[in-house]
Amino acid sequence: MNTRKTLYVKDNDLYIGAFKATELAKKFGTPLYVMDAAYIREVSDAFVAAVNKCGRGAVAFANKAFATVATAKLAAAHGLWFDVVSGGELFMVKRAGADMKKVLFHGNNKTPREIDEALDAGIGFFVIDSLNELELLDKKAGERGVRQDVLVRINPGVSAHTFEAVMTAAPFSKFGFDVHGDAFDVIRDIASRDNLNFRGLHAHIGSQIYEASSYEKAIDITVDLAGRLAEAGIVCDILDMGGGYGIYYTDKDPKFTPSAYAATVENVARRVAEKSAERGLAAPFLIVEPGRSIVGEAGVTLYTVGAIKDFPGVKKYVAVDGGMFDNPRYALYESEYSAVIAGKASEPASEVVTVAGKCCESGDLIGKDMPLQHAETGDILAVFSTGAYNYSMASNYNLNAIPPVVLVDGDRADYIVKAQTYDDLLRNNTVPEWLN
Ligand code: LLP
Repeated sequence: MNTRKTLYVKDNDLYIGAFKATELAKKFGTPLYVMDAAYIREVSDAFVAAVNKCGRGAVAFANKAFATVATAKLAAAHGLWFDVVSGGELFMVKRAGADMKKVLFHGNNKTPREIDEALDAGIGFFVIDSLNELELLDKKAGERGVRQDVLVRINPGVSAHTFEAVMTAAPFSKFGFDVHGDAFDVIRDIASRDNLNFRGLHAHIGSQIYEASSYEKAIDITVDLAGRLAEAGIVCDILDMGGGYGIYYTDKDPKFTPSAYAATVENVARRVAEKSAERGLAAPFLIVEPGRSIVGEAGVTLYTVGAIKDFPGVKKYVAVDGGMFDNPRYALYESEYSAVIAGKASEPASEVVTVAGKCCESGDLIGKDMPLQHAETGDILAVFSTGAYNYSMASNYNLNAIPPVVLVDGDRADYIVKAQTYDDLLRNNTVPEWLN
């Protein structure tokens, strides 16, 4: 457990802000996602300060990690920009009142409809990722008489040490233009077009990365391309170095504080400034795009323990009232989490158990071999670091309702996403006339 001022244990109880986790579970029910506003604010402020330390810059929150109107408002109030990857995320940030000029649109296959929606919303930047997009955007911007600001996503070919599904910049990735291949020519083409305003480069090397060296390599390669473009008279005044900063899930991982994260971002900013200077380039406006590191550790999921099955000497299952429908990350990536029994949090973790969900498949686990206090039916289990890619990847598998999300802000706690009802689950079901 990576404790902090708003996540701590007192008298055997886990607290989030001013609340006992067991109190939150009782008031709002389980399963329940709890998000800690104080943590989101603190990390956001630290990142914004860090990115501006060595020049000008912005922090664009990657909505894919956690997309709700309330947290987008919170992020915007702390000066964050937004990275969106779908018409849905665009719609959400619009509803949150975001300044559209501070929104970037990512994606390797933006649909014609999404391109229309983003242009009509007056989005700040498209991050062009394919030739199809280039042509379509050029045409659609021209039809509107708009000169659209664009960045170009490049694949710097850096393999960061993370799991394969989230590696994005290894050779043959589906993302971006190959920096050692067609990137230069594509950018020269874009720079010559009337309806597109080339502003700079984007590179994102993956997610849950701890190694500074991967970022350094990607920066060096990206600045080198900016240098080659400058020699051809094409200015990159923006460099967007993506997100991906790793967070704490278990004791195998480093325990970062917001200021430690900020130091990582500051290193990125310094390297960009230094390498640009070495190349004789003006310091670019630097964008970073963290998702997980802003919201990941802000989130705790609360469950009620139900069935317990012990196969002595082999395995003990502790089943909870959630599962892969609220947290599919074990099923997808065998991700590891840490957890405590919320009302026994100071007791030693005397058992090693497999926490199972309630879905009808064996792979539906929250975690294998997790050290835990002795669990009894009715206990509240708190799983840490679930703020990123849990709610945003939740599903209605087995027609389970996606749990509500409660935001804790000091001594206040309220829903930011309401519980789904059974009616919600069937809201879009229709029965064709001929079946009736
Ligand atoms: N920018 C771009 C272009 C991205 O593709 C991503 C993440 C980010 C920023 C934010 O990365 P972060 O700071 O959150 O690591 N579902 C996976 C993670 C997928 C990440 C996809 N892209 C998981 O649950 O681990």
